[in-house]
Amino acid sequence: MSEALSNLLREDRRFPPPAELAAAANVTKETYAEADADRIAFWEKQARRLHWDREWDEALDWSKAPFAKWFVGGRINAAYNCLDRHVEAGNGDKVAYHWEGEPGDTRTITYAELLREVSRAANALTELGVRAGDRVAIYMPMIPETVVAMLACARLGAPHTVVFGGFSASALRDRIQDCDARIVITSDGGYRRGAPSALKPQVDQALTECPDVRNVLVVKRTDQDVEWTEGRDLWWHEAVDKQSDQHTAEFFDAEQPLYVMYTSGTTGKPKGILHTTGGYLTQVAWTHWAVFDAKPDDIYWTAADIGWVTGHSYIVYGPLANGVTSVMYEGTPDTPHRGRWWELIAKYGVSILYCAPTAIRTFMKWGEDIPADFDLSSLRVLGSVGEPINPEAYVWYRTYIGGGRTPVVDTWWQTETGGMMITPLPGVADGKPGAAMTPLPGISAEVVDDAGNAVPNGAGGYLVLTEPWPAMLRTLWGDDQRYVDTYWSRFEGRYFAGDGAKKDDDGDIWLLGRVDDVMNVSGHRLSTTEIESALVSHPNVAEAAVVGATDPTTGQAVVAFVILRGSAAASGEQAAKELRNHVAAEIGPIAKPRQILVVEELPKTRSGKIMRRLLRDVAENRELGDVTTLTDSSVMELIRTNLSTPGAADDD
Ligand code: WTA
Repeated sequence: MSEALSNLLREDRRFPPPAELAAAANVTKETYAEADADRIAFWEKQARRLHWDREWDEALDWSKAPFAKWFVGGRINAAYNCLDRHVEAGNGDKVAYHWEGEPGDTRTITYAELLREVSRAANALTELGVRAGDRVAIYMPMIPETVVAMLACARLGAPHTVVFGGFSASALRDRIQDCDARIVITSDGGYRRGAPSALKPQVDQALTECPDVRNVLVVKRTDQDVEWTEGRDLWWHEAVDKQSDQHTAEFFDAEQPLYVMYTSGTTGKPKGILHTTGGYLTQVAWTHWAVFDAKPDDIYWTAADIGWVTGHSYIVYGPLANGVTSVMYEGTPDTPHRGRWWELIAKYGVSILYCAPTAIRTFMKWGEDIPADFDLSSLRVLGSVGEPINPEAYVWYRTYIGGGRTPVVDTWWQTETGGMMITPLPGVADGKPGAAMTPLPGISAEVVDDAGNAVPNGAGGYLVLTEPWPAMLRTLWGDDQRYVDTYWSRFEGRYFAGDGAKKDDDGDIWLLGRVDDVMNVSGHRLSTTEIESALVSHPNVAEAAVVGATDPTTGQAVVAFVILRGSAAASGEQAAKELRNHVAAEIGPIAKPRQILVVEELPKTRSGKIMRRLLRDVAENRELGDVTTLTDSSVMELIRTNLSTPGAADDD
């Protein structure tokens, strides 16, 4: 095992923190020692960065492990911490969000305005009968009302479940049913790719099978025609605007549920990850401040959708708890042109950008000339999240977006962990392209072998978390047993993250992708990520996806799907041969793909994750599985057509 997952890919580049940033950094090396000395006291100190109506009696109750309670007996309100306390401190005029609609309309919302809007919405929800503990479903585009709706729920102690606006009616229905939400907040639609895209019809369809939903609050965004169910449907502007803008927040137990976020597991049924209030807010606020080195005058932008955990923790709760100014953008990066993100960074003077490697690789594909046309000199810290970032994308990001100056923090965490867990700190660590590096202060992780023993440096295995952490999921909604089985059974007493990882010679952690993305070729375990990185390090490759296909001789064989860069795209067969040799040279002959298929597009979920399952189906010549969550179903057609093109597949 240790040898099997060992570090085959060599990466020697190092990027020390800029001296100025390091000298003024929010967090220094000493913080690690402090947390090591007393982990619990460390988190108590971070919890005190928030306002508590009553302090806790006990920081952590782990007596019913793996069911944790943090800050037991403490009383807190998440919305109060995100809004009221900043206004009370005299910062009401500070901008909370510079919001930019895709068509170019904008809204600037201060903390005081956001508080008034959230108070109105909380009053409206109260009028609709929402009480502490009730679940509210939110199915919205990236507009300010989405944040308002979430905070209004938080203010009332009513857990929200935000369903990504790109999900289908049946996905929405399943989630509403699973957490038994009685109120749904939506909009007529939002703008995507230059056109209004409707949301209300999906709600209407979902609700044909959700008889317990009493009311639907509808924000008017696009002015599209909508079907209307009298008595059930209410316009947001009619129900909310008339309310008083005063609302006194009630303080709840630290373990009051804050939200349920559904995420896919290995079975078809999505898992409702439950996050509670005090511990979650402590960790997202502290990590946002520490990992991005957030300062009061920073302009911060998480370019993700609020419908994912990244949006919850680092568009809404973390930045607002810290009183920071954020940018929020409604649309896609290529509308109306491929420089839209860079235009926004220049316009608002964004200093911290947080996004996913898949976006970065797309920008690489479009070429560095596009960002070169914009002034990106305001940027000082860049972040990455959601999947392993291959060293080439990391260096491209640092070079062409960060101007060669900015640290890049590669942050590993999950919906389940609630907040960042493994990442370098920008003022402390020398950045290593491709490595998430070390657990944050107060976080304990290990890489273990099949038997659960820690692997030595230079070896690989499974990533586990060895101590409870404040923002950890508390359970799966309505399914305690599945919570125990999924996360706490594989390795006794430890949380199994489902990711493969390796420790390099310095003991730093590299993520290797989900364990089910780890292949076994001739008895050697190979990571899809590692081979993808090798492929993308070739100048002709824009993007690559690797899957393990069943092979009669070697068990599994490596099959790679690659998108070539513009100039290289012509040379099918020759390109494939060269790339196989390139992988052999970068990693070793064992990693040489059996086949390289040159494609135009890769099938992705709406959250940007490559659908390897589909690619595996193609690689193994099977009937295609379910394609309904694809962003673009024509992609699979394209790939199949390509497969039958002579020269595209190379097998020698
Ligand atoms: C992957 C997103 C490598 C990982 C916050 C994890 C990463 C899953 C990284 C969780 C990273 C996330 N490097 N892999 N920096 N960040 N992942 O729940 O496989 O959407 O288990 O949470 O994404 O995805 P989720």
